[in-house]
Amino acid sequence: MDPYDLIGLRRRAFPAVRDLSPRPPSVSRTVIVIPMEISHASIAGFVHGGTIMRLVDTAGGIAAGRHCGGPTVTASMDEMSFLASVHIGDLVTVRAQVNDTGRTSMEVGVRVDVEIPGTDTVHVSTAHLVFVALDENRRPVPVPPLVPETDEERRRQAEARIRREQRLLRKEALRRARAGETAGS
Ligand SMILES: CC(C)(COP(=O)(O)OP(=O)(O)OC[C@H]1O[C@@H](n2cnc3c(N)ncnc32)[C@H](O)[C@@H]1OP(=O)(O)O)[C@@H](O)C(=O)NCCC(=O)NCCS
Repeated sequence: MDPYDLIGLRRRAFPAVRDLSPRPPSVSRTVIVIPMEISHASIAGFVHGGTIMRLVDTAGGIAAGRHCGGPTVTASMDEMSFLASVHIGDLVTVRAQVNDTGRTSMEVGVRVDVEIPGTDTVHVSTAHLVFVALDENRRPVPVPPLVPETDEERRRQAEARIRREQRLLRKEALRRARAGETAGS
C-alpha cells in the first residue's frame, strides 16, 4: 500500500480540483518566529548554519504550498551567506513569499533576521529557493501565476526572472560540459 494512503496524507494533501487563478505574493506570505535553544547550537553556543537552512526550507515550503494549494518539493536552494552569528536565546524570524512562478515551479525569497530580545534586529541571511508543485503521482503540476501588486513585488519578480535564466544557463552549461561539448558548439 502507498504510505501516503496509509497515513491519510493523500486525501488531505492533494487537492481534487486545482484553482489556477492568478494570485498576489501576499497569499503566500509566511512568518516564523522561533527562539534558539540548546538543540539548535554547538557546545560553543553558536547556532548551526544547518538549523537556519532548515528553517528557511520550512518557511519557503509553507509559502510555496500556500501559493499553489498543494504539496511541493524543494528543487534547489541558491547559495546562502551568514552575515551575523546566531546564539542560544536569540529570537529568529524567517519571512518567506513567492517572488515568481514558472509553469510548475515557484521561486520563494526567504529573509532571516535575528533579535536579541530588547535590542535591535540584525539581518542574518537571504536565500532564494525553487519549489515544484507535485500531483498525486509525484509529477510536476502547473501552479497559479503570480500577480505582483506593488513596485517592490514587481522588482522581486523581475530579479527572480534573472535568477531563473541564470539557473537554466548554468544547468545547460553543466550538461554540455558533462557531454564533452565545448561552449558555442
Ligand atoms: C524537482 C523535481 C520534481 C523536478 O522534476 P523533473 O522531472 O526535472 O521535472 P521537469 O524537468 O518537468 O521540471 C519541472 C520544473 O522544475 C524546475 N526544476 C527542475 N530541476 C530544477 C533545479 N535543480 N533547480 C530549479 N528548478 C528546477 C524546472 O525548471 C521546471 O520548472 P517550470 O515548470 O516552472 O518551467 C525532481 O527533480 C525531484 O523530485 N527532485 C527531488 C526533490 C526533493 O525530494 N526535494 C527534497 C529534498 S530531499
